[in-house]
Amino acid sequence: MKVVLAYSGGLDTSAAVAWLKQEKAAWVHAVLVDVGQQEDFEALRLRAYQLGADQVSIADKKTELVEKGILPMLQLGATYEKDYLLGTAIARPFIADALVEAALESGASAVCHGATGKGNDYLRFEQRIKILAPGLQIISPWREWKCGGREDALQWVESAGVQIAKKSFDYSIDANLWHSSYEGGCLEQLDLALPDFFQNAMTKMGPLECSITFENGLPTQLNGQDMTALAMIQKLNEGVKQTGFGWLDLIETRTNGLKSRGIYHTPAGSLLYFARAALNKCWFPKPTLDVLDQMGQKVGTLLYQGVWQHPIQVAYEAAAKSLYQNTKGTIQIKIVGAQPFIQSRVATPNLFSDKLGGFSHMQEWPSQFSEALVFFQHLQHHSQPPVAQSLGVSL
Ligand code: ARG
Repeated sequence: MKVVLAYSGGLDTSAAVAWLKQEKAAWVHAVLVDVGQQEDFEALRLRAYQLGADQVSIADKKTELVEKGILPMLQLGATYEKDYLLGTAIARPFIADALVEAALESGASAVCHGATGKGNDYLRFEQRIKILAPGLQIISPWREWKCGGREDALQWVESAGVQIAKKSFDYSIDANLWHSSYEGGCLEQLDLALPDFFQNAMTKMGPLECSITFENGLPTQLNGQDMTALAMIQKLNEGVKQTGFGWLDLIETRTNGLKSRGIYHTPAGSLLYFARAALNKCWFPKPTLDVLDQMGQKVGTLLYQGVWQHPIQVAYEAAAKSLYQNTKGTIQIKIVGAQPFIQSRVATPNLFSDKLGGFSHMQEWPSQFSEALVFFQHLQHHSQPPVAQSLGVSL
């Protein structure tokens, strides 16, 4: 049997290589998908061969992830349960794409992933694979392993004669160019304070100052320089990592209803979401802000649950694109510690007007307008008799 494995070099997928060889006697093509995780790919490639892989390849999905995944998501401000910026969820469909492409190319009959059946990732991988290549068999070692936890996965790795520093498996880590997530280990003890590694990173002082320009709802310039969104994210990541901004300590509801605790670091992403939200307030009237918000939450939930390219996602992304047509803006932000401060914002259109809304221009605002608004608010939200009375109408 030829199997294409989604290999990240982490504990679970390293164990999967050894297990596929030893238990399934499979011909294993390990695909390492580059979604911007900062890893030594050559070292991981070597390790896969040591674990028994017959072929190891690297698929670069960074640009696709940004252009087709992250930018539409950013435009909608999509989140899950209002806080999570979907760093793992958004990358999974692109990893699944790379697996299916490799399987079709090498004539494999099965694909394998290292996600457990308790989280969300198996759903994201498997729903996408089923759409792209319904005939491919899906192998999920965690469903077949009799073992109880990560210790057992370590045994499979060691059974192949490969030593991996145990220390590096304190947490289950998932990293890409948008975020790093940490789950498991002591993070599952909610009554324990975070280990120093996190506390130190979260209290870095920076500072960082930068300006971001958006055109038609997409980030196009950093500090006045044109650049691709991918380059901007990479550059911003480096800067923001010198500060404590962009961390999230979250309890979330998985698709199956189980609660899980994760620590998320989304440096550039958090800043881009912040910048977009601030400029939105200048660009859009309230009904548009509300609709964007609702669409972002809806699409965020679909992305989280791995329902990639649902017609609602496609439609809402098109709607957001249309709403952002002809908007432009630049926001200057300074981050000190974990706190972003807006230094300046320039937007077109800009619904904020100091002449209309400001404190120094009271006399231009006719007082009848204010009285009329009280009148209409009362009419809509309260009882009608006082309104009738003020008009001299008897009900
Ligand atoms: N809970 C997050 C999600 O479902 C992250 C999952 C993967 N993270 C990990 N550390 N293994 O998107």
